[in-house]
Amino acid sequence: MASKEELSNIRKDIDWASLGFSYMPVRSHIRASFKDGKWSEGELCTDHTISMSIAATCLHYGQAAFEGLKAFRCKDGAVRVFRPDENARRLNLSAERILGPTIPVDFFCELVRKVVLDNIDYVPPYGSGGSLYIRPLYIGVGPQIGVAPSDEYELLIMVMPVGPYYKGGMKPVHAMVIEDYDRAAPLGTGTIKLGGNYAASLKPAKAAKEKGFPIPLFMDPKTHEYVDEFGTSNFFGITKEGAYATPASSSILGSITNKSLQQIAQDLGMKVEKRQIHRNELGNFAEIGACGTAVVITPVSEIVTKDQTYKYEENFPTLKKLYDAMQGIQYGELPDTHNWMFEV
Ligand code: PLP
Ligand code: COI
Repeated sequence: MASKEELSNIRKDIDWASLGFSYMPVRSHIRASFKDGKWSEGELCTDHTISMSIAATCLHYGQAAFEGLKAFRCKDGAVRVFRPDENARRLNLSAERILGPTIPVDFFCELVRKVVLDNIDYVPPYGSGGSLYIRPLYIGVGPQIGVAPSDEYELLIMVMPVGPYYKGGMKPVHAMVIEDYDRAAPLGTGTIKLGGNYAASLKPAKAAKEKGFPIPLFMDPKTHEYVDEFGTSNFFGITKEGAYATPASSSILGSITNKSLQQIAQDLGMKVEKRQIHRNELGNFAEIGACGTAVVITPVSEIVTKDQTYKYEENFPTLKKLYDAMQGIQYGELPDTHNWMFEV
């Protein structure tokens, strides 16, 4: 556990209030290598570059997965990470799908602890609204030229201080349904966090942004009848009856934020519905939220489809309640009744 002295170390050369969501080189990242059938111990590295074979499988055949989680400087001064064990388990789903080795959950959490501790002065101060974004990256680095999995892997975990993903924090954004592209295939890799899924989303996301819609909303790739998820976050809505509804789909990422919000909604006495959501139902919601580690809860006040525009509450009272409950737990202002926070 970090000492009081370590915890009181906060950088003075960063304007915490103006942080957005962008890359910032910090002191170190941590790197573990998989070679000869086992993981190395993990080493802190200060060089922010990597060298590998020009035939590495991550470069040619997309053996690359990643994760996203956050550490928070809490009200009591401690630094805690939100549910790192869940990210470890999800990374293992990605690893299994691309035929790479899995990572013991406790080992992953210890790597997270070490890299956060080494960069503790970059964790934004309590009250600034910022957090330390933790980005694990898992890549096949061994050479293969026939299509086959690598024998060697690197797990790097980098960190950086971040503020809101969309400018303005909890300011509502407009979303556009993507009609001409999919980010995932029906039985493809949408449920895991492969880099390739994001490559597939770049073009439609750019087109939507240029039309004034910062959030692309993808439909299920098989029929385009049902709501899947946003480009970098899950979809949930508050029905006019006050229930929390979120899509059940075999092509979306299992969001840890969404799973946690479903628990919080239940704790608040709300009904939770995990089910298919038909596009014609978009008019039945009072509030819509995008949820994820980076976007936290971002309210969506308008969704445009090819033939309809749907509008939602601009002051989103239920999303606010959920947001306050979630951030209250993350910043240590509310009891962590589900044991979600991992102290470094
Ligand atoms: N869906 C997609 C496509 C994402 O990129 C993310 C971000 O990680 C999420 C959902 C939200 O997942 P989580 O809440 O685990 O960050
Ligand atoms: C996250 O929320 O952690 C993500 O990975 C979303 C995005 C920045 C890719």
